[in-house]
Amino acid sequence: MTADRVDDVAPDYDEIPDAIVVVGADGLVVTCNAATRRVLGAGVDEMIGLPLADALPLSDAAGRDWWQVTNPFGGLSTRTRQVERVLQLPDGRYVLATASYVRASRGAPVDRVVICLRGTEARDRAEREHADLIATVAHELRSPLTGIKGFTATLLAKWDRFSEDQRRLMLEAVDSDADRLTRLIAELLDVARIDAGRLELRRVPTDLSGLVRKRVEARVVAGVDASRFALNASEDLPEVWVDPDKMGQVLDNLIENALRHGDGTITLTVRQDPDGLVMSVADQGPGIPPGRAHRIFGRFWKGSDRGGTGLGLYVVNGIVEGHGGRIALVPPPEGGARFVVVLPIGDPVAELSVGDTDPAD
Ligand SMILES: Nc1ncnc2c1ncn2[C@@H]1O[C@H](COP(=O)(O)OP(=O)(O)OP(=O)(O)O)[C@@H](O)[C@H]1O
Ligand SMILES: [Mg+2]
Repeated sequence: MTADRVDDVAPDYDEIPDAIVVVGADGLVVTCNAATRRVLGAGVDEMIGLPLADALPLSDAAGRDWWQVTNPFGGLSTRTRQVERVLQLPDGRYVLATASYVRASRGAPVDRVVICLRGTEARDRAEREHADLIATVAHELRSPLTGIKGFTATLLAKWDRFSEDQRRLMLEAVDSDADRLTRLIAELLDVARIDAGRLELRRVPTDLSGLVRKRVEARVVAGVDASRFALNASEDLPEVWVDPDKMGQVLDNLIENALRHGDGTITLTVRQDPDGLVMSVADQGPGIPPGRAHRIFGRFWKGSDRGGTGLGLYVVNGIVEGHGGRIALVPPPEGGARFVVVLPIGDPVAELSVGDTDPAD
């Protein structure tokens, strides 16, 4: 009965998404599956009975015939498989190939070779994205460095020719470029932690309305006109388990975006709804065109040239999700941009750790 059931669920070769080619002890193709047509352009009709080298004319990076290099039916009698290799088809396309050398017993001659092939598109795409990311990071790091180098080189070469005020101006420019670099590196580290799923959150019960008020006050102290802000935060809300530094970073980013990319009054709201605590930051600027809304939370996506690296909202999204919350762009009907963050109120992790506490301490 068990065997029947295994038969019922055992996948047909044709259900396997990779191309499978089985070669018998005589070196001729015994069978292949449906995906072979997609990957190799030839199916069962053309493949069965062909010698391995004709059915799969694969070559390695040096252009050598792969079957001569590996000699699947000869070679070491202990070989059981071929690890994944990138090989090339005669039409120039690349495939990822693995093979099993099936033997009746250890050391016996090879009974059949089962070869598995898949296209390299997904891997190529991942590699391209990785290379793009490195290029973008290098580019973003280079622009502030170019500024720093320009001013320091000029000052060193012509120190005496500049007045005290001119030197101060140049040093201030160097100082602000160095700040930009520091901010950028901090953002990149956050991005790396988010991507690796290693964002550390030190959650404590936090008064979200108080946090919003403090972040706004910090902006006013830093010189932004207090009349730019409208605060609409209820006082008697439950505390929420968040990392206050990280949630402050979320607010700083959203406020900075409203100031830099938006316009008019910036309205900050905190209220409770059945899903949790809802915090929103809205401005009266041009907003984000609907066609671009899905891209704003991506890495390095910039909609304008008003400074910035396009990492802010990516980090914001990562921090909010790390708290089990959600962030969305919900433009108000009257126009402008509005970002809405929903945070769960309870903290299951904290409730767990209470039970986990060692009674000895
Ligand atoms: N309040 C807003 N109004 C209009 N456009 C916005 C607003 N907030 C964000 N955007 C658009 O979304 C893009 C991405 O924002 P994000 O915060 O990720 O990057 P940035 O502000 O350009 O740079 P960074 O935050 O890394 O310094 C911005 O470049 C901008 O075009
Ligand atoms: Mg930003």
